Amino acid sequence: MTQCCINPSILSADFVNLEAELQRISTADAVHVDVMDNHFVPNLTIGLPVVQRIQAVSPVPLDAHLMIADADRWAPGFADAGLASVTFHAEASIAPVKLARELRSRGAKAGMALRPATPVEPYLDMLFELDMLLIMTVEPGFGGQAFLDCTLPKIRRARAAIDGSGINVALQVDGGITEETIVRAAEAGANVFVAGSAVYGAEDPEAAIKRLRAEGSRTLRSASAE
Ligand code: DX5
Ligand code: ZN
Repeated sequence: MTQCCINPSILSADFVNLEAELQRISTADAVHVDVMDNHFVPNLTIGLPVVQRIQAVSPVPLDAHLMIADADRWAPGFADAGLASVTFHAEASIAPVKLARELRSRGAKAGMALRPATPVEPYLDMLFELDMLLIMTVEPGFGGQAFLDCTLPKIRRARAAIDGSGINVALQVDGGITEETIVRAAEAGANVFVAGSAVYGAEDPEAAIKRLRAEGSRTLRSASAE
């Protein structure tokens, strides 16, 4: 059975108290760090220097999601910073195979993200170059948006391709994940779940992580028993 991972997004955390906010999610599998450049998406967050400080104090590994233009140029620097996983957007890369190889050669797991309307089919032959495929379940740029059910068939097709080729690629979903939508995403085949507002908007983030993990694991278990 594929492992269920819960990666809270610090986009919904208090940016003035990041170190304390990271301690509140120490039972998570990784912390999802959203980097936005106000070009690829209409919002601006943090850059490499702040990500490096997060890396220095985080109790869990970093899962960086780069929503930035010209990923070929900028993503390798995040791998050099020692991040566990670096995800770039397919739409922002001219040479995604080269970039994925570069990330791996610098010691990071290579992730590639697709916006909701980007089809997965053109990328199926390069899945073995990746450690993780991220299917966005909202338009990237902001936390707190509603889960887009129109992405479910793409998640299913990606899962079928991954299982069919026998490669070990994690399937991540990001955007609008709640205790309710995580079930639909897991049924469709996702196994790594990013949750911003559902974790940091909760009174007790650890308890929220536990509930999300319980729902995700239960769904993945029953899917593998079918
Ligand atoms: C959106 C970001 C997400 C965001 C998710 O562009 O990539 O990681 O933080 O937030 P929620 O879980 O609130 O939709
Ligand atoms: Zn994200």
